Amino acid sequence: MPTPHISAEPGQIAPLMMMPGDPKRAARIAQEYLDDVELVSDVRGIGCWTGTYQGTPMSVMASGMGVPSTSIYATELFRFYGVERIIRVGTCGGMHPKVKVGDTVIATAAHTNASISTLLVPGINLSWASSYPLLRGAMDAAAGLTDAGIHAGPVYTSDLFYLARPEIISGLVALGTLGVEMESAALFAAAQQEGAEALTVLTVSDHLTDGSVDMTAEERETLYATAVKIAAAALLS
Ligand code: ADE
Repeated sequence: MPTPHISAEPGQIAPLMMMPGDPKRAARIAQEYLDDVELVSDVRGIGCWTGTYQGTPMSVMASGMGVPSTSIYATELFRFYGVERIIRVGTCGGMHPKVKVGDTVIATAAHTNASISTLLVPGINLSWASSYPLLRGAMDAAAGLTDAGIHAGPVYTSDLFYLARPEIISGLVALGTLGVEMESAALFAAAQQEGAEALTVLTVSDHLTDGSVDMTAEERETLYATAVKIAAAALLS
């Protein structure tokens, strides 16, 4: 059953998964948060680790960067490996003035300029929403962890890291969009197509318009831990 991009055997990947973008981050989450961890796939340097979190089987695997990479891994995990819930744990650039560097953004939906919104149903611009049960679990977990800097709302999944036009940013901010990243729309689309659940929990690592300084490496680690704890609790909810 191994797929073109995942070499795990059936049953080696847990139904619950955390998915950062960076493969090295996936390795660290597995080491630091999971018990009894085993590497079950390592195609193209994208490791997949399975272990337990508070006694429940859980896996961690990176999405790589961008819509195509995320779409491939999420679809294969849902369709062929029985994965039921994936939560992306990543970073975003803040867009909305109420969002500050270091805050946490929980994505209720993802706008995108990627073709997945227009290719699947002719004539329709599809909207990509996260899973409500996971969203509720994440909001409950966040309320128990911290009382500051948690925002729930739409994010923008961009196909371009560079070259973003200012009028795109201002137009999206006027519609309440909180931050920009590059993967959530693909993850939500795969979940909707495969009848599964997905959510994104993001740490704001930089800001496009408020001129604030990027986080230090140490701040990044502490705040990333908040996102991972929210995600893990939501997966168990
Ligand atoms: N991820 C983190 N910061 C980002 C940015 N400014 N644009 C796109 N993706 C990001």
